[in-house]
Amino acid sequence: MQNVPASSAQHRPVSIGLVGRGLVGSKVLEILQERQTSIGELRVFATPRSVGQIIEWQDHRVSIEDAATADYSGLDLVINTADGNFARDHADRIAGQGPVFIDSSFYWRQDTTVPLLIPTINPQILPAKGKVSGKIAKSNCTTTIGAIALNPLHNAAGLKSLTVSTYQSTSGQGNPGTQEHLAQTKAMISRVDELIHGQQKPYPEFTIFPAGTAFNAAPLAGTMPADDHTTEERKYINETRRIFDLPKLPIDVTCVRVGVFNCHCLSILAEFEQLLPVEKAHEILEGASGIVLHRDDDVPQPIFVAGTDQVHIGRVRQSNHLGEHGLNLWVVGDNLRPGAATNLVDTVELLIKQELI
Ligand SMILES: NC(=O)c1ccc[n+]([C@@H]2O[C@H](COP(=O)([O-])OP(=O)(O)OC[C@H]3O[C@@H](n4cnc5c(N)ncnc54)[C@H](OP(=O)(O)O)[C@@H]3O)[C@@H](O)[C@H]2O)c1
Repeated sequence: MQNVPASSAQHRPVSIGLVGRGLVGSKVLEILQERQTSIGELRVFATPRSVGQIIEWQDHRVSIEDAATADYSGLDLVINTADGNFARDHADRIAGQGPVFIDSSFYWRQDTTVPLLIPTINPQILPAKGKVSGKIAKSNCTTTIGAIALNPLHNAAGLKSLTVSTYQSTSGQGNPGTQEHLAQTKAMISRVDELIHGQQKPYPEFTIFPAGTAFNAAPLAGTMPADDHTTEERKYINETRRIFDLPKLPIDVTCVRVGVFNCHCLSILAEFEQLLPVEKAHEILEGASGIVLHRDDDVPQPIFVAGTDQVHIGRVRQSNHLGEHGLNLWVVGDNLRPGAATNLVDTVELLIKQELI
């Protein structure tokens, strides 16, 4: 079931550039089409190896251009779904040619001059009127899914601290991550005895992830820099604080990569300033937009949540040691949709609706 908001057809059609047509870029095109977002012109950019390939989109045949050398003048928006290196090297050049640069990569998220936006949570960080220019950053997929789940509870009771474990899918690492996980799974499927009784032979090679993903769980999502947190854990902490404008919010997080193709899950213990009994939390979550509440033994799981635009929450329980100041939550979201592309399209629609472009 998709959450299709009202079409923006009554507004002026916008000219959109899309850099990257991998897992997230393809979803962006799919969601723009589902929502019938009012687009005047669409251009698609990627690496030189993709130049000249044709993308069929609505009634158009769009020929892919070289992202590094293209002239972006005349576009209203450019959505970047290439990596942080592309964002580092090209964001300012592209924004300097006119379009607003909406970045899904990590690169600009901690630059305080760049808004870090989840349109359904903090639209107030954009100007109320006038035109937006420059760059807008989108938060990490796990952060985004967690923040969408927590936002209505935070509005009601005020977040005081978070203790989180994540269970992150392999499509979080794009097409290369998905392919590596698939190849490993195929290689290991006939080696069940080794998986049950201990590994006799070498595990298939991995290069995209820092550990094997097939039939495995490794608390090494992202890379391990010099301190004791992985890059994914640092992103979760820093970006959650920025999104909620709580720069000192205590957050303990462990990010785990698991052998699941799509959907990130989070087990969250949230502490609140105010009392928040579980019945009240149910009431709040049931009425919250972009959220599906699951009760009792109806438990959200990646295999059922994949392909949906909502963040699914289940197992809502009062904390044993925090009492009515704490809740345990199980949160699941499609990392390619609400974790990425849905948010990017929401950003486009927000800019159109508020006439900021
Ligand atoms: N996957 C997720 O769950 C997720 C969620 C949130 C944010 N993100 C972010 O979204 C971005 C895309 O992720 P993805 O999963 O879609 O990755 P992906 O499947 O690997 O696709 C990446 C796309 O970017 C293009 N690209 C890569 N480097 C480029 C460069 N230097 N110049 C131009 N194009 C380049 C590739 O072009 P070719 O087709 O020519 O190879 C490809 O189309 C990343 O920044 C990622 O961190 C991903």
